[in-house]
Amino acid sequence: MSPQDFLNQHKEHFLNELLELLRIPSISADPAFKDDVLKTAEFVAEKLKLAGATKVSIEQTPGFPIVYGEYFKDKDLPTILVYGHYDVQPSVPDELWDSPPFEPIIKNERIYARGACDDKGQMYMHIKAFESMMQTNSVPCNVKFMIEGEEEVGSDNLGTYIAQNKEKLSADVVLVSDTSMIANDIPSIDVGLRGLSYVEVEVTGPNIDLHSGVYGGAVANPINVLSNLIASLHDENKKINIPGFYDNVIEASNTDREALAKIPFSIEDYKSNLEIDDVMGEKDWTTLERTGMRPTLDVNGIWGGYTGEGAKTVLPSKAYAKISMRLVPNQSSERITKLFTEHFERIAPKSVKVKVTPHHGGEPALTPTDSVAFKAASKAMETTFGKKPIPTRGGGSIPIVALFEKELGLKTLLMGFGLDSDAIHSPNESYGLFNFYKGIETIPFFYQYYTELMASD
Ligand code: BES
Ligand code: MN
Ligand code: MN
Repeated sequence: MSPQDFLNQHKEHFLNELLELLRIPSISADPAFKDDVLKTAEFVAEKLKLAGATKVSIEQTPGFPIVYGEYFKDKDLPTILVYGHYDVQPSVPDELWDSPPFEPIIKNERIYARGACDDKGQMYMHIKAFESMMQTNSVPCNVKFMIEGEEEVGSDNLGTYIAQNKEKLSADVVLVSDTSMIANDIPSIDVGLRGLSYVEVEVTGPNIDLHSGVYGGAVANPINVLSNLIASLHDENKKINIPGFYDNVIEASNTDREALAKIPFSIEDYKSNLEIDDVMGEKDWTTLERTGMRPTLDVNGIWGGYTGEGAKTVLPSKAYAKISMRLVPNQSSERITKLFTEHFERIAPKSVKVKVTPHHGGEPALTPTDSVAFKAASKAMETTFGKKPIPTRGGGSIPIVALFEKELGLKTLLMGFGLDSDAIHSPNESYGLFNFYKGIETIPFFYQYYTELMASD
């Protein structure tokens, strides 16, 4: 029996387990869910053990634990380090969900729940693929699992953990399913991840909220000022106006741009899916280039003043915004955060005080397409999709990937099975049953081809 036969006999069972996992609200950002996050780690550890992993342990960190497990076959065989995350983004605003975020339902062949795709659904495929291989005596190499609970809050403790456990985590490649493909009939593999610099800004005007008639027009309104400051961060060509921001950007080569241009992509579908009449972005770059290979700056949240019922006339004392910058090779998140801070302090008018607080950051990463891992993944997806996957670039960030390279000397293969339309981080996140099963079907082929290609390399 093959692992794929085993999958076919256990589809419903595998799905029910995933639904159980999705019922635990493992929101790492919100301390109110601490116990649930810990419960999720236990769930994952238990399932790893049942799947046949040894040395399964819940490794404590100053934050949420890392679930570790392994399968050792032979020291002369390669080792695959599987990484994923069991934490999820907050579900707010809950009222925008058609069904409760932590009560998964199946509708139109899709699983609806927070984490359905990012990353519980995708991470769980690996545990079930491993189980299918174990049960059919077909694990071809050594495997290590490292499933963390702080990806959505920046993976700070995992960075320390890998630096302190280099020996234990030694491997030949890292395998991750936490990205998306172009479409179910157009398989692709992300070969680039963007870095991230994330800051919070606070603008203070007068020492208390004032009457907007008595003082308005004469005292700086921090919300007006913040709006102007934010607007000035892009020029008329939508380039970022921070001195030095582009200094280290490796301009995409023509080959890279041509490869991206070949990707089947309909701007009309893109717009109609989002119900927008036009796209916008940096001049002279296409939409896929803007998200895949160009740095960007976005306000993620902005608040201040009166936002309650009706109208209250007030000139607020303070205004705030959370701002993220997506980075590309070779920008450094630390340097960009510094440049932003200096620039923001410099351009603020004297009438206000500004404070910039850095949040988590992360570095960009690239995966080579001529590696054994890429070839194995390509062959595995070709086997199960009937089509060779296209190398592409996702716009998101997985900060730990750059650290796998820096601390462990390992390249990461991003074999994601999600779709951009899965609404990760949004209300009504979902994951296709097709994608869940396709992942479980494909992963064992990756193991097999990777092991074979490594032996002949
Ligand atoms: N899985 C995503 C990253 C992703 C999604 C990459 C789609 C490529 C395509 C990951 O869980 C994520 O959301 N990362 C955060 C960064 C983190 C530091 C909060 C992100 O990209 O905003
Ligand atoms: Mn993720
Ligand atoms: Mn995420």
